[in-house]
Amino acid sequence: MNLNIAVLPGDGIGEEIVAQALEVTKAICKKFNHELTYKKALVGASAIDAVGNPYPEETHELCMKSDAVLFGAIGAPKYDNDPSAKVRPEQGLLAMRKKLGLYANIRPVTTFASLIHKSPLKDELINGADFMCIRELTGGIYFGRPQGRTEDGNTAYDTCVYTREEVERIIRLAYSYAKKRKNKLTIVDKANVLATSRLWRQVGQEIEKEFPEVETEYMFVDNAAMQLVQWLKRFDVIVTENMFGDILTDEASVITGSLGMLPSASIGIHTSVFEPIHGSYPQAAGKDIANPLATILSAALMFEYAFDLQKEGALIREAVDASMKEGVVTEDIATGKAYKTSEVGEWIVNYINNK
Ligand code: IPM
Ligand code: MN
Repeated sequence: MNLNIAVLPGDGIGEEIVAQALEVTKAICKKFNHELTYKKALVGASAIDAVGNPYPEETHELCMKSDAVLFGAIGAPKYDNDPSAKVRPEQGLLAMRKKLGLYANIRPVTTFASLIHKSPLKDELINGADFMCIRELTGGIYFGRPQGRTEDGNTAYDTCVYTREEVERIIRLAYSYAKKRKNKLTIVDKANVLATSRLWRQVGQEIEKEFPEVETEYMFVDNAAMQLVQWLKRFDVIVTENMFGDILTDEASVITGSLGMLPSASIGIHTSVFEPIHGSYPQAAGKDIANPLATILSAALMFEYAFDLQKEGALIREAVDASMKEGVVTEDIATGKAYKTSEVGEWIVNYINNK
């Protein structure tokens, strides 16, 4: 098969972790006789620095004509600490999601036996936990207009907007995943306060009737945040709006061991993007210490979701599992010796080559 991918490392640790995921992708292509073509492009703070635009047209064109996008991370302290900056790196990621029509971000949350000791929760609460969060990605408060600040700088506003069409398509997608899993769907909202959430609940109640085989429950987001800590294993598929999904999945990632482990697939209308859920971790940039596993696992999702190459994805997961069992991991999850980002990547590539 011909695989034509766009590689967007972004900022901070993006370059280092994507480099490892790319090596793993090359090793898999070689092993399974696929022809890989890839091209790198700029996004985020590095794109602002180079061309003044966090999602340059050239990058968008490359993404549009690729079969998949492998993405690193976005964000830089110089912008985080400057609330008055007119152009922000994150706008690049949001523009990419919007222009590619990536309305769903699939975040599978699983536990790794060798990571359970890292969780702040008791073993029995997390052992065997396995659920999927489907985050709406192109609507809600991230995109609602109007947005802004008053001239005097004393008032600021963000608007949360959802249309029926946006809610319907993501809830239907969530049902399709629930049917492939345990027939259980939790729709997370804040319908006791927010009008947009009441629209979610109303649309949910309408669509629910079409899926009698699926057990549907509705849960307020504050309760969901608590239940994740208290009884994680009750969840199978969660679907929620953009910002709630952002927050709940960071929570889920530390509960299951490390923010450095969770991959995601952003899917929708045009080319899908595969990205770790963590950020750009600027303090670690260039030090070769960041955990590349979330990005390597995102490459596994890329093989599975974008190319329907299941064996290829499975071999990446197997190699990641093996590296963890062997203790060849970075400092965030190491119990003994901590390995470098590049050493972990090389170990995984070797494992694949020797399979
Ligand atoms: C994520 C990130 C982004 C988001 C930021 C970098 C804009 O936190 O992908 O979860 O909030 O969506
Ligand atoms: Mn996030």
